Amino acid sequence: MRASLRAFWGALGASVLLLLALSDPARADDDSAARGRELFERVWQSSSAPHPAADGLGPLYNERSCVACHSLGGIGGAGPNDKNVDLLTPSAAELSSSGPDDRFRKVHPGFATASTIVLHKFSTDREAYGEFRNRMLGLDPRILHEPARQQNAELAIFRGQSRVPNRAVKVSRVEFIVSRRNTTPLFGLGLIDRIPDFEINSVARQQARRGIVSGRFLGRFGWRGQVKNLDNFVRSACATELGLQLATHRQPINPVGKPEDPLVRRPFDISAQECRDLTEFVARLPKPRRVLSDDRQQLVRIKNGEALFDSVGCAECHRPTLADVSGLYSDLLVHEMGPSLADPAPAPIDPLLPSAAGYYENVELANERRLVEARREWKTPPLWGLRDSAPYLHDGRAETVDEAIKLHGGEAQFAAYRYRELTSPQRQNLLAFLETLAAPPKIASPR
Ligand code: HEC
Ligand code: HEC
Repeated sequence: MRASLRAFWGALGASVLLLLALSDPARADDDSAARGRELFERVWQSSSAPHPAADGLGPLYNERSCVACHSLGGIGGAGPNDKNVDLLTPSAAELSSSGPDDRFRKVHPGFATASTIVLHKFSTDREAYGEFRNRMLGLDPRILHEPARQQNAELAIFRGQSRVPNRAVKVSRVEFIVSRRNTTPLFGLGLIDRIPDFEINSVARQQARRGIVSGRFLGRFGWRGQVKNLDNFVRSACATELGLQLATHRQPINPVGKPEDPLVRRPFDISAQECRDLTEFVARLPKPRRVLSDDRQQLVRIKNGEALFDSVGCAECHRPTLADVSGLYSDLLVHEMGPSLADPAPAPIDPLLPSAAGYYENVELANERRLVEARREWKTPPLWGLRDSAPYLHDGRAETVDEAIKLHGGEAQFAAYRYRELTSPQRQNLLAFLETLAAPPKIASPR
């Protein structure tokens, strides 16, 4: 009797402990982040999705995993230029003459709901899509069946254009512009996600008062601040980059497939919980660090460079600290950066509406003048982790930090000018300071 009573209390104690463990929020978050990491590294396959009846990767995709692009300086890092995302937008002349219309939609069904579409690298429909992509890039159709030559032709275009990457192509008598986006690093994004709106708005107001630069607050994420929060960007990336169908974001439409029946409900490739896991993992990626030199003279140069960064005006936009996030070097505002950095897909003109759209869908067509300006607006990228995230700028056109700085125009022209006017040793010091901004220590791989 006594023994069984002891067993009873013992079992009760154990289950209470188990319940406590299960309801421990910190531990639940750890588990979520661990599952998120697995999803970030998972190499997706078509037709082998973990969910019944889902079709996994595709029909269109840019890569098979998140980490395939986000890898420089460790898992979650930036990406090299060959991982850039290609975008297609009708040229300004086409848009102003007609607005989005049937001619665009005939070329790609994505134009039914967006003025810019992602020109995906791959499709599960390999041959037909390869032919389509070649046509859109203006490549010779004869090279289609020789993958090596296709690659070379793409690379040649890409190299020739790497300084001014926007290219015009004519398809079915419509002129389109092909432009690109460079993969951003994801370190420290959880901290950025938690900066309150009012802090960012108050920086915008300060800038308006001082009148040296004048930023606008859209969202915290994306080169154009086109996305408000991290969770939304992560879900968008699942749909846009990997072609996963989600409850909230649709996967891209296949331009060479059968027209879709809107009444057919597609099973989801990735669940809401899995998206939360993925976001939890990304949000916990550690923030970048500073790597200082042991050499005293070098330290003096770095200190001098840091002071110059402030005195020539870089810190007007690249603010060292925003709210309680130190070492960020951004104001998270978008700025007009001059005509040579313009891109056909404009920054959102109105404050963002919550939408289930991908991060390039932006159908509003404001008046032409406002549109010209919005095409030159970019969000100040945080400079933390800079050393490990080359190439630079929204389309990766700058191979070095020095080049990236010299390409600043518009609101940043004064700072770029003062940078050029520095003496050569001063410029070296400023660059030495920027060299100290490094990716966080690599997190160990579980495998
Ligand atoms: C084909 C390469 C590629 C793949 C694959 C990819 N990304 Fe990205 N990622 C990019 C590019 C390019 C950007 C910048 C997009 C922009 O702002 O226009 C980006 C930006 C982001 C951002 C916003 C970062 C910031 O600071 O603004 C997040 C978050 C993100 N990616 C998460 C993911 C996740 C999660 C996955 C996997 C589901 C993923 N990415 C897969 C290329 C990729
Ligand atoms: C008016 C605001 C503004 C000022 C002033 C400014 N920048 Fe920038 N900076 C930006 C924006 C916006 C971008 C992104 C432009 C793009 O991608 O086309 C950028 C990009 C960069 C990049 C590339 C970052 C990356 O991840 O690709 C570096 C490096 C940089 N700035 C350094 C500087 C330095 C050094 C100065 C001072 C000489 C400076 N900036 C002044 C707004 C500014």
